[in-house]
Amino acid sequence: MAIAHKIEGFMETSSWIRRMFEDGIELKKQYGAENVFDFSLGNPNVAPPDRFRELLAAVVEECGCTPGAHMYMQNVGYADTRTEIAAYLSRGHAVPLSADHIVMTCGAGGALNVVFKTLFDPGDEIVIPKPFFAEYTFYVDNHGGIPVFVDTNGDFSLNLDAVERAVTGRTKAVLINSPNNPTGKVYDQRSIDGLAALIDEKQREFGTEIYLVSDEPYSTIVYDGIMVPSILKACKNSLLITSYSKSLSVPGERIGYIAVNPGAAGVEKIIGGLTLSNRILGFTNAPALMQRVVGRMQGVYVDVEHYRRKRDLLCDGLWQAGFEFEPPGGAFYLFPRTPIDDDVAFVRALQKKNILVVPGRGFGGPGHIRICYCVDDATIINAMDGFAAVMKQYR
Ligand SMILES: Cc1ncc(COP(=O)(O)O)c(C=O)c1O
Repeated sequence: MAIAHKIEGFMETSSWIRRMFEDGIELKKQYGAENVFDFSLGNPNVAPPDRFRELLAAVVEECGCTPGAHMYMQNVGYADTRTEIAAYLSRGHAVPLSADHIVMTCGAGGALNVVFKTLFDPGDEIVIPKPFFAEYTFYVDNHGGIPVFVDTNGDFSLNLDAVERAVTGRTKAVLINSPNNPTGKVYDQRSIDGLAALIDEKQREFGTEIYLVSDEPYSTIVYDGIMVPSILKACKNSLLITSYSKSLSVPGERIGYIAVNPGAAGVEKIIGGLTLSNRILGFTNAPALMQRVVGRMQGVYVDVEHYRRKRDLLCDGLWQAGFEFEPPGGAFYLFPRTPIDDDVAFVRALQKKNILVVPGRGFGGPGHIRICYCVDDATIINAMDGFAAVMKQYR
């Protein structure tokens, strides 16, 4: 066989994503792109803020072809950038971080791999609430970890009893993602405090260290005055992962970071491990140009109003069409229940109306579909008749 059995298997299990993509290309060829309503990818369509363009131009002007401007750097990233980020986080989280607690990474995806590489011995377990970002399974496997998936409540809030049952002496980490992909759920302060207390209690019970890893690339995309609680404040053994992919609409630029809680057990070792892992996973360091840009634009983000409008358009339309769902508090995903158990069949029925969405089973949430609403308003508006017609077939 040309390739590893494991990758062959992964290709098979994730083939529905590929198929969706290929079907989409085919449909667009057949009907024209404007007549295909593609909600399948979380690829932000809103332009980056003006400040990003200004700073990008300024950085290129300052160090375009200056000798040294494009050299290798410390694997952890530029000190200036890390200092800016640490100052920004210290203010926002009321936890005193310095540049030494920040590791610049190739997006949140790169950061997750760096964290898992650093934390896991073979067979170490990581507890992950369902539904979850599909790539977690692959990332955990990359580093010999074992994912232990746990149910959330009906409204996708954290089910602390389920987490408690899942934590054992082999648990190295609990991974949360809020605002969540695929549900848009934002965990509230009470559940974060409860989770932190639970981790504390389990560490004492087993005499182990358990790290709370919070994957938060959507933390700036929240609605209706909802706040994302600070995990750095709530839990000492915590690592915050984020990126600028969604907050600045620049996912192709691969820029993000890890912030390690200064109070975490073994903090210096962890930072050393993360830095080495950034190197030996082949990332080496986060992109130099982007580090220079994002360092200077702390607190500047895409206007969330764009996404709020799209969320409301989509939710209003789907309510009227008879869909059932939890209104999302953040991110740009909606995760409605399907009127039949077979979410793949429902996705196929939508496809016949040129609507592309992803079956929930790929995220550990069968009986649902994921709709990404980071699309033009016209896509949402023009897809509504199709959504309504398909729902009608099943009611
Ligand atoms: C929950 C979650 N984590 C991580 C990532 C990866 O983000 P990045 O582009 O920063 O690697 C994504 C991307 O969609 C995501 O939804």
